Formats: sequence, structure tokens, C-alpha cells
Amino acid sequence: MSAIIPVITIDGPTASGKGTVAQRVASALGWGVLDSGALYRLTALAVQQQAIDPDNESAVANVAATLDVQFRLGQILLGGQEVSELIRQEHVGNLASRLAPNPKLRAALLSRQRAFRLAPGLVADGRDMGTIVFPDAQVKIFLIADVQARAQRRAKQLIEKGISANLEDLLADMRVRDARDTQRSVAPLIAAKDAHVVDSSTLTIDQTVQSILDLWSRILSTPPSLGV
Ligand code: C5P
Repeated sequence: MSAIIPVITIDGPTASGKGTVAQRVASALGWGVLDSGALYRLTALAVQQQAIDPDNESAVANVAATLDVQFRLGQILLGGQEVSELIRQEHVGNLASRLAPNPKLRAALLSRQRAFRLAPGLVADGRDMGTIVFPDAQVKIFLIADVQARAQRRAKQLIEKGISANLEDLLADMRVRDARDTQRSVAPLIAAKDAHVVDSSTLTIDQTVQSILDLWSRILSTPPSLGV
């Protein structure tokens, strides 16, 4: 009966704040979270570790299908190794974005992502959560933010983790990644027709989280329609 388990999808470009907002909305509701970007990053890391040719679509899809991954209270284990910091590195994100247009890879990750839809509900963040993975989601958010604001945010995150960051390089990488994510023919980064577009460059995290919770409350208080 997975169809009735509610899902809130939060799609948007890199560093738009999706991850933080998704975590906060999920904890307010007591729901689970799917960070779908982590699955693409884990695939990229495994491709790198196994020295697979990134252009070999079938081999990359096979890596994704056989990923030995466990998500445990803030930890991400790949083949038993804790990799949650490693997969956040820019070179892993860039490789993930390069691999992401591969339709075989996306197909291999589809059922893995849908398996996160467990009671009492799921907040899923990514690029195609509202369009492809959970098209029947009850609330769909498309979270955008100015590229300068996003690059500054990412630089701050990296510096806080003791990783050196150059704003100009980050901006350039982000523009390349945005272009690749939006222009690819398979599951491009695009707002679902029924998505609410939220601009996080003009809102605080608290305001963004609250606006999503308000949308969900509104759905809960709307009587169900009498079918199609
Ligand atoms: O969201 P994050 O930056 O961690 O994602 C890394 C890359 O994985 C993105 O740049 C994007 O190319 C890809 N991705 C995707 N579809 C998703 C989530 C991430 O194509 N649902």
C-alpha cells in the first residue's frame, strides 16, 4: 500500500539548501528522508574506486545496481566503509553530475529510491523527485537560489569542514553542473507542473521549512476528492 504513504519532494540545483530543508521538514513531521544525490555520489565514488570507465553506461549502471550501501543515523557506509564526508567532496559531486545523464544508471537507482517510501512519510530531495521518482507526491517543491548565494553557501560549508575552497572555482563548477543537470535529455532538473517554486535566496531556512509545512497542513485539511 505504498501509494498512500505521503511524500514531499524537494528538487532544485546544487547548494540550494534542499538537504537542510528536507532534514528539517522530515524531523518536524517525524518522517524519513531520501537524499537521492547521495546515491549518485555513492555511485560516482564506487566507479572511481573500482576504476570503471565513466563512459561505459552498462558498467556504471551495474555499479549502481550492486552498491553495498547502508544509511545509519547520520552515517553512510559503502562496502562497510564510512564515506559520508568523502562523497561530499567537489570532485565526487562533479563525477556524479557527469554520470547522471546515463539512463541505465537512472533506471538502476529508481527502485532503490522508491524503497525509501515508508510509513509514516518521506521527504525526498534531488533533481527528479517530483517529476520521475515520486510523480504522485502530495507536495512538490522546486527550491531555487541565486548561483552566487549558492556558491557562497558551498564555500562556507567546505571551509567549516576544513576543506579549502575558491569561490570563483566553485561558481564555475556550479554553472557547469547546473547547465548539465538542466539540459540533459533524461530526467532534467525542471520543476514539475504541479510544483511550488520557492526561492531560498530571499527566505531564511526557518521560513522555507515553515512554508513547506504550511503546504502540507493545507493538504491535510483539504477533504479528499471523490476520485477521477
Ligand atoms: O544533490 P547533489 O549535489 O548531492 O547531487 C549530485 C549530482 O547527482 C547532481 O549534480 C546531479 O547531477 C545528480 N543527481 C541527479 N538526480 C537526483 C539527485 C542527484 O541527477 N535525483
